Amino acid sequence: MRGLIPDSFIDELLARVDIVDVIERRVPLKKAGREWTACCPFHNERTPSFYVSPAKQFFHCFGCGAHGSAVKFLMDYERLEFPDAVEELAQSVGLTVPREGGRDERPREDKTDLYALLDAAAAWYQGELPRSAEAQAYCRKRGLDGETIKRFRLGWAPAGYDGVIKALGNTPRRMELLNEAGMVASNERGSKYDRFRERLMFPILDRRGRVIAFGGRIISSAPPAREDQEAGIPARTPEKSSPKYLNSPETPLFHKGRELFALWQVKQANPKLERIVVVEGYMDVIALHQAGLPIAVATLGTATTPEHTEVLFRAAPDVVFCFDGDRAGRAAAWKALESALPRLRDGRQAYFLFLPDGEDPDTLVRKEGREGFERRIREAMPLSDYFFNELARDVDMASLDGRARLAERARPLIAKLPDGAFRDLMAQELEKRSGARAVLQADPATHRAMQRPTAVQRSLVRSAISLLLAQPGMADQVERPYRFLRLDKPGVELLAELLDLARARPGINSAMLVEHFAERAEYPSLQKLMAALAVGEPEAQRSEFFDALARMEDQAATQRRDALTAKSRESTLDPAEKAELRELLAARVRPPVAPV
Ligand code: UTP
Ligand code: MN
Repeated sequence: MRGLIPDSFIDELLARVDIVDVIERRVPLKKAGREWTACCPFHNERTPSFYVSPAKQFFHCFGCGAHGSAVKFLMDYERLEFPDAVEELAQSVGLTVPREGGRDERPREDKTDLYALLDAAAAWYQGELPRSAEAQAYCRKRGLDGETIKRFRLGWAPAGYDGVIKALGNTPRRMELLNEAGMVASNERGSKYDRFRERLMFPILDRRGRVIAFGGRIISSAPPAREDQEAGIPARTPEKSSPKYLNSPETPLFHKGRELFALWQVKQANPKLERIVVVEGYMDVIALHQAGLPIAVATLGTATTPEHTEVLFRAAPDVVFCFDGDRAGRAAAWKALESALPRLRDGRQAYFLFLPDGEDPDTLVRKEGREGFERRIREAMPLSDYFFNELARDVDMASLDGRARLAERARPLIAKLPDGAFRDLMAQELEKRSGARAVLQADPATHRAMQRPTAVQRSLVRSAISLLLAQPGMADQVERPYRFLRLDKPGVELLAELLDLARARPGINSAMLVEHFAERAEYPSLQKLMAALAVGEPEAQRSEFFDALARMEDQAATQRRDALTAKSRESTLDPAEKAELRELLAARVRPPVAPV
């Protein structure tokens, strides 16, 4: 998503907006010295611990730890996705978001027309519903009440080949739009007809509540898809003569892999969402909402993608994936787990809920009621349990071999978790289950990767990064090539990258610098590091920064010297290495640096 908006634009945008303005419009701020303050909008408090720094273009709450740039504030406060937050900010200062890549290059007016057309289509289908006795009988049979039908804007696509075309395609331009929106299909002879016919229509809304696509379900009593599905024939291909559900094709507005059915309704119903549940079907979502659980969304006939997962975790810290208990359900659950792993930063949790055979959330919530289903949600399996159970499924945990196998499978997956307490816990759990110092030590590289670097080394590189973030302008005065790069410690490459970025963009501020990493795994840590120095004396920070660099260079030299010394004991050094070692040993007489 982010890839489509050029970085240079984000820079321009963050240079143009004033975070104080952006926040002030939503949260009244009071001046406090060089900063502005308020009661934090992200947690309940009586005395203000929320600070906005105009110099750094950054907000930070000392109470709950919320922090970030103007973009981040909008994402959190208005619950927007990154591109939407950028769009909104851009509009507020009169900028137009340029897009890279082909599919969004059309002028904006076209999309406005597309949205309007899809909205008109939804309204037209809605109007058709009361006119079809068959469709109404079906809604009754499925237990849908009027309120639900309205909330989801359910409609009916009548029989015939040109209902929508007649109603909405009355100019060549509108025909073109119908086509672009995926509302019409054409036969071999090129004549156009309504894509959706004799189907109950489910509008798919984007995160701002605009109609972007449809799903349509046949309601005839002979469902063709189900039997095929049970016989193992994939039924979810629209090419089939009459699939049970038909979705709009991919269009400029609709990308299945990142949309979730009912996310808008969920956000409307829950100003503060603690938990979101992902189910498989439209009817499941609707039944749960109607039963008083407006926390369910569905993917649209596809597996859960990493993009979905990110959207889900942005909506709520806890995500419950709900699947059938059968083999297909388990396979889908594992896919969801894999797409969740890289997104599981600390504070985010995934759970898995497997349903009894032959049931889906729709049937279950009707049987067990809201309380029953809530209990199932509460008792859902934490990701860690599901992870280890599934990996241990066909291995003999009593044998050394089996445990080694488990470790072998688990390691690359655990490595996908972002750095943090949860990853450490998973690594520990693996060690416990696989019985396994020995197993882990068989692969020293991985073992090292899983251990946390010691506090001392970590704090040095980290504080250098943090100090640089506080004053990106210092990058100019760092000598190149960066000698600290020889240091074999986590974070040094990141520091170099930040320096290069800051150097290449004179005048860049802290928030702009960090936003360059918005889609990267390092983003949350960078935000924390920036927040760590939200207040402080510029001059002191400056000398601390250069001091940290010097110490890193020194550590790098020590590391190298020790490595060369060790090598010289075991084998012989080549002339270049000898020269290097001599130099390093000579340099050692420099005054020692203060301990960290
Ligand atoms: P199912 O076909 O498993 O649901 O489809 P179901 O429980 O038998 O039927 P209903 O929905 O309760 O009437 C579950 C979901 O899979 C997708 C849809 O999103 C659907 O809601 N699906 C299914 C398709 O996209 N196409 C299909 O042909 C079938
Ligand atoms: Mn169902």
